[in-house]
Amino acid sequence: MVKPLRKAVLPVAGLGTRFLPATKAMPKEMLPVVDKPLIQYAVDEARAAGIEQFCMVTGRGKTALIDHFDIAFELEATLAERNKREALDLLREEAMPPGSISTVRQQVPLGLGHAIWCARTFIGDDPFAILLPDDLVLSETPCTAQLVKVYNETGGNVVAVSEVPKEHTNRYGILKTGAVEGDRVEVTGLVEKPAPENAPSNLSIIGRYVLLPEVVTYLSRMERGAGNEVQLTDAMAKMIGHAPFHGLKFEGKRFDCGDKAGFLEAQIAFALARPDLGPAVRAFLKNYVNA
Ligand code: UTP
Repeated sequence: MVKPLRKAVLPVAGLGTRFLPATKAMPKEMLPVVDKPLIQYAVDEARAAGIEQFCMVTGRGKTALIDHFDIAFELEATLAERNKREALDLLREEAMPPGSISTVRQQVPLGLGHAIWCARTFIGDDPFAILLPDDLVLSETPCTAQLVKVYNETGGNVVAVSEVPKEHTNRYGILKTGAVEGDRVEVTGLVEKPAPENAPSNLSIIGRYVLLPEVVTYLSRMERGAGNEVQLTDAMAKMIGHAPFHGLKFEGKRFDCGDKAGFLEAQIAFALARPDLGPAVRAFLKNYVNA
């Protein structure tokens, strides 16, 4: 019987330099895809997987992310007064139970591994999910729920993986793989950003993880890896052999919204998937693709 997964860490302390000037005074994770900020997609996905407790790892200039999950009292009162039922219902559906979101501060962005280590008190002795809000997944079953299903069967660590072009392995955490069973891959090694000629495979980790709390022990060593950052991948690699470790070739399509082209593609894909917008977007796109 595995310990149930109830916690998620959302690292949002990055600088978002690739989206300047949009991210000068606004966090990258508040950028909307269609009409919902990236952070809200991550929280909704986690809640759909049974997660109840959240920890946002924030930094300077990230207050809007915290405010986003507060009650907009005046706005709600005005909407009620004007009988804007739909808008009001939308806000209320998304309201978080009191006390379910905590925040910790990463004063200096020293890397994703360091950001996770900052959440160590929240993590305690429990397994936890990590969702990087700038990775969006469009799928039938929410990606984190797919990971939790595997975790409930295998225990240990489970990461979402997808194939990348061999020449792009130096952008991602890459798996060395053992036994393959359908969509599940045994992880026998992990390397952060290997050059294509040294990459053990073309399977990359995307921003969805279920990890055991032991990873914090390895992160505490503060060893610097690729880019002189404290890399989560390096700490995860140290758990291999001590507990089950699987990669899941998840169902769905992942969009890297930390990158401009990926973000624009996500806008189109998510808009096309929406019954209220899809037909209009499909119609106007024709004016551009043949130009
Ligand atoms: P990115 O590599 O996308 O970095 O981080 P970034 O700073 O957000 O964006 P660019 O590259 O400057 O444009 C991946 C995730 O890890 C978080 C980010 O907030 C993002 O969710 N992160 C990264 C931290 O929380 N702390 C860090 O020190 C580094």
